[in-house]
Amino acid sequence: MKRREMILRSLQAGAVIPFLKPIELLAKDFENLLSSSGTGNQLRFPPVFTNGGTMALAASNVNVWPGQDTQVVAINGSYPGPSVVIQKGSVFTANFVNNYNEPATIHWHGVDVPELMDGHPKDSIMPGGNYTYTFPVINRGGTYFYHSHADMLTAEHVFKGFAGFFIVTDPDEAGLGLPTGNFDVPLCIQDRRSANIPQFLYNPVMSDIMNGFLGDLPLINGTPDAFFDVSKTLYRFRLLNGSNARIYKIALSDNRPFHIIATDGGLKDSAVQVNSFFLSPGERTEILVDFSAYNIGQNVTLKSLPFTAPGGGTYVQGTELNLLRFDITGNQSSGGIVPAALPPISYYSISDVKTTRTFTLTMNMGGGMNIHRINGLTFEMNRIDWETPQNSLEEWKIINASNMLHPMHSHSHQFQVHSRNGNINLPPEDKGWKDTILVNPFETVRLLVKFTNYKGEYLFHCHNLEHEDDGMMLNFKVVDPVGINEENENIADDYQLRQNYPNPFNPSTKISYNIPVSAYVILKVYNELGNDIATLVNEKKNSGLHSVEFSATAGGKVLPSGIYYYKLTASGSSGNFSEVKKMMLIK
Ligand code: C2O
Ligand code: CU
Ligand code: CU
Repeated sequence: MKRREMILRSLQAGAVIPFLKPIELLAKDFENLLSSSGTGNQLRFPPVFTNGGTMALAASNVNVWPGQDTQVVAINGSYPGPSVVIQKGSVFTANFVNNYNEPATIHWHGVDVPELMDGHPKDSIMPGGNYTYTFPVINRGGTYFYHSHADMLTAEHVFKGFAGFFIVTDPDEAGLGLPTGNFDVPLCIQDRRSANIPQFLYNPVMSDIMNGFLGDLPLINGTPDAFFDVSKTLYRFRLLNGSNARIYKIALSDNRPFHIIATDGGLKDSAVQVNSFFLSPGERTEILVDFSAYNIGQNVTLKSLPFTAPGGGTYVQGTELNLLRFDITGNQSSGGIVPAALPPISYYSISDVKTTRTFTLTMNMGGGMNIHRINGLTFEMNRIDWETPQNSLEEWKIINASNMLHPMHSHSHQFQVHSRNGNINLPPEDKGWKDTILVNPFETVRLLVKFTNYKGEYLFHCHNLEHEDDGMMLNFKVVDPVGINEENENIADDYQLRQNYPNPFNPSTKISYNIPVSAYVILKVYNELGNDIATLVNEKKNSGLHSVEFSATAGGKVLPSGIYYYKLTASGSSGNFSEVKKMMLIK
């Protein structure tokens, strides 16, 4: 279907419904409101996905509102979809079966995966088809998610329920004293329209394509009017904004402070105390909330504070909303603490930028279709909009020349935010590893971006899903690193340990390093446990660029697939140098 027909179809659907709403339905709505305005519904949690199992997409019915069927489009009949919980370093596998009547893909948002595992719309699985998604989990521990990424159908699929958590656990987090188990709670925030209870009717009209399809009724893990029983202790909440377009300004109803500990790509380098923060579609922020000062019998509500932002019609951005009521009911202790320090993050330096790219976000009125654009462009499936060399630090300068809010998202490797309107003092929710960043009206946000793990075709787009489906999305391709085949490159005047190439590799790869003066060089390979696997260099070397081949099948034994590290130590007259880099073997 052409983009134009697609949108017309939505517009027609939207035109009919508001005028023909049967009176019985209105009466039913009223009953719902009465029944849910009492004590509400206990917060629900989706089932945990068994690694290696099937993810079947189909239309099904679930009880979002007690006793009533909501038609959803969901994985394994679950809304939200089953939660993936997987340890860093292991291999994730899901057998995707498309039992729905439209093309679909699964995109693993924020997860660094090979091109053919990324769920790009060009790789759609047709109705009746299936596909095995499998990749090593190389991301840091953190809260990621998955959702539909079908061409011009993403917004509708996600709205109807096709999204779920992808949580990466990390042994590095174990010693930090963070709350775990029942005190580590994922919260997916979405909005739906109360006028359509109990259905997730998706009928965008022109203003919805303009602003995004906003609702007035928050669902937390698919629970309307949700409450959650808590003890007087410290909790870790993993907040995911799984809404199509709504931005939340997260706070507690009594304005009590709490700590932000993680951004999209896992833990920050310190816990930062705040009273509120912004969470835009696609973003994840983790917080620690301490309930110890409350008394049993009290409650406090997680809410979205009112804020001013552009938007029109009934479902404007910035509406005040109650998200989740915490009922203080117990005395159990989580044993968790707010860590005084979190693992360090090495920040990119703007002075190392090799290339600057500018993305101007505009609104193209008049035409009707393809209102939201990047550099004047609308998404074309088969057009590569630019190429980025692997391992090269880039600055992406996003200039929002419109009066709309755009949460901009890049696939593949996580990035870092450099500044907002030139200000490098970032709010805590922006500082750390990120894959989605809210760009406010008429603001310029500068990102530092580097792709080290995979080459291939990926997407950069607005995560307001109506904007995305309207074509506010570009393709880019990560290509061979600069100079990879230039053996006679000039001798650099500093020590360098370069990223192995190719990476991931199978069965062999090349590791290059530069030494500015002659030095005694040791280059070793280690497995994930830190065991010494191979010594590639152990001798005095002349100054210059050297390379050495590493093979996973050398010496007769075959190394298992997974993550490996290589470490260079060079001792020369100008001092000692040592650096570790990560590489990945794929079989
Ligand atoms: Cu979460 Cu390309 O998107
Ligand atoms: Cu993504
Ligand atoms: Cu947008």
